[in-house]
Amino acid sequence: MDYFSLFPILVAALSICLALNIAIYRLCIHPLCGFPGPKLAGATFLYEFYYDVIKGGMYIWEIERMHEKYGPIVRINPRELHIKDPYYYEVIHAGSSQKMAKDPKYAVAFAAPYSLVGTINHDHHRLRRSFLSNYFSKRSVVSLTPYIHRKVDQLIRRFENAYHQSTVLHLQLDFAALTADVITHYCYGWSYGYLDDTNGAQSNDLVEAVAGLMAMFHTNRFFPFLVTIFRNAPPSIVRWMQPQMADLFDVKAKLRQQAQDTLLKKGAKDASSCAKDTIFDALASPDVPPQERTLDRLEDESALLLGAGTETTARAIAVSMFHLMNNEEMGRKLRSELKTVLKTPESKASWVDLEKLPYLTGAVNEGLRLSHGMTSRLARISPTKPLLYKQWIIPPGTPISQSNYFVHMDSTLFPEPEKFDPERWVYAAEKGKNLNRFIVAFTKGSRQCLGINLAYAEIYMTLAHIVRRFDFMPFETTVDDLAVYREQGVGLPKSGSFSVKAIVAGIAED
Ligand code: HEM
Repeated sequence: MDYFSLFPILVAALSICLALNIAIYRLCIHPLCGFPGPKLAGATFLYEFYYDVIKGGMYIWEIERMHEKYGPIVRINPRELHIKDPYYYEVIHAGSSQKMAKDPKYAVAFAAPYSLVGTINHDHHRLRRSFLSNYFSKRSVVSLTPYIHRKVDQLIRRFENAYHQSTVLHLQLDFAALTADVITHYCYGWSYGYLDDTNGAQSNDLVEAVAGLMAMFHTNRFFPFLVTIFRNAPPSIVRWMQPQMADLFDVKAKLRQQAQDTLLKKGAKDASSCAKDTIFDALASPDVPPQERTLDRLEDESALLLGAGTETTARAIAVSMFHLMNNEEMGRKLRSELKTVLKTPESKASWVDLEKLPYLTGAVNEGLRLSHGMTSRLARISPTKPLLYKQWIIPPGTPISQSNYFVHMDSTLFPEPEKFDPERWVYAAEKGKNLNRFIVAFTKGSRQCLGINLAYAEIYMTLAHIVRRFDFMPFETTVDDLAVYREQGVGLPKSGSFSVKAIVAGIAED
C-alpha cells in the first residue's frame, strides 16, 4: 500500500482519536461533567443536532424525557444546562440588576446580528434598548388607540364580506394583516396596507418570511456562518437556495433603503419638521453614539421589529379566537361580559378599558399561554457570577435555558394544561394568586419582549371587538392542529404550518 492510499485512513483514524479525546474531556474533566444527563448528550452535539436539525425541532421532547429520568436540571449538550422548574425561570431571565448575557449560539439564530435579539453582552444590550424603550412605553402605545381602531374596523369590513360571500378565512393571516399594518405605520411611518384588500387573506409574504427565518432557526445555531453567507449573497442566489428566506431579504432591502434615506437626511435635518418620528429617527438620533448609528444596525433593528411584531401577536389572537369559537359556552360568556363595555356591536373601547374585564383577560392570557411566544430555548449566560440551583453550583459562562413550553404546560400551575380555560384566571385573581408570573410568552427580565404593550393593546382590542360582533365556526381546524408537535423557534403542528381556518356563521345584532 503506498503513502497516498494510506492518507485517508490516517486522517480518519486521527479524527476518531480526536473526537474520542474531546468526548472523554467533556465527560470526565469539563466543568459540567458532574451534572445529571445522558452521557451521549454530554459527550457530543450530534445528539441535539439529530433531533433539532435533521428531525426538524424534536429535541424538546428528548429534553422532556431527560427531565423525567434525571430530575429538574439536565446537561442537554456538552455546554448547556436546561432547568425545568418554573420558579427558576426568573433567575435565568433576570432583571437588569443581574448581568446576564445572551448565549451567542442563540443570538445568531435570528439572523439579525446588529439587532437587540442579536446583542450578546448585557451592557451593550441595555444601551441599545434605551434608544427604543420610550417608543414602546404604555403611554406611547395608548396614543396609538385611534389607529388600532381604524385597523380593527377594516378587519370587521373584511369579515362582513366573508360572511356575505361565505368565504373561508385564514384567521391568523387576517390578524397578521392587522398587526403588520399597525407596526409598519407605527415604526416606519408608512403602512403595508394589507387590510386595504377587503377580501380575506390567502397568504401574507411577511408571515412567510418569518416562517422562512424560523425554519432556519436551529440550522443557524449550528452553522452560524450561513447567516453571513445569506446576508452577503446576491438576492437571486438566496432565492434559489431558500425561497422562503428570500422574501425576508426583500423586506430587509426595503428597510435598508429607508434606513439609508434617514441616515442621509439626518445630516441635513429639517428642524422645522413636525412629522412624527419613525423608529429610524429614534435609532439615528444625534443622541445615539455614532458607532450605533450604522446602516446595518438600522436595517437589522427595523427588520426585527417587523418580524417580531407581526406573527407572534397574530398567533396569540388566533389561538384565543379558535378556542372561543370551538366552545360556544365560552364565546357566549365573553360576549356577555363585553356588553358591559361595548354596549352595541358597533361600540368602541380602548385597551385601558378592556384590560379591566376579568373573563377577557383570562381569554387573552390563555391565548398567550397556549401559543407560547417562542418554544425554542433562549439560553442566557451569567458571565462572571456562578448561579445556584438547589444544591447545584452552575459555573459562570454556562448557557442555561428553560423552554417557555414547559412553564406554560406545567400541570402544577395550570391543571389540565392543554385546556383553554379563561376561568382559571378569574379564580386566580379572586384568590389573589399571581399566575401572571408564569405567563412567559414574552420571556421576563431585562430582555423581555420590547413590544409587550403594543402586543397587549392589539390582542385586547382585536379580540374584544371581533368577538362582540361575529360568530365563527372552525373550518377544517381542530384542537390537535394547534398543539405543538415540533418547534423551530415557534411551535409547529404535525405537518405544514400553523393555521386557523374559520367561516363567519353570524353577525351580532344587539
Ligand atoms: C404576542 C406577541 C409577542 C410575543 C409572544 C413576543 C415574544 C417575544 C419573545 C419571546 C422575545 C424574546 C426573544 C429572545 O429572548 O431572544 C421577544 C423579543 C422582542 N420582541 Fe416580542 N413578542 C410579541 C410581540 C412583539 C411586538 C408587537 C413587537 C413590536 C414592537 C415585538 C418586538 C420585540 C423586540 C424588539 C424584541 C427584542 C427585545 C430585546 O432583546 O431586548 N414583539 N418577543
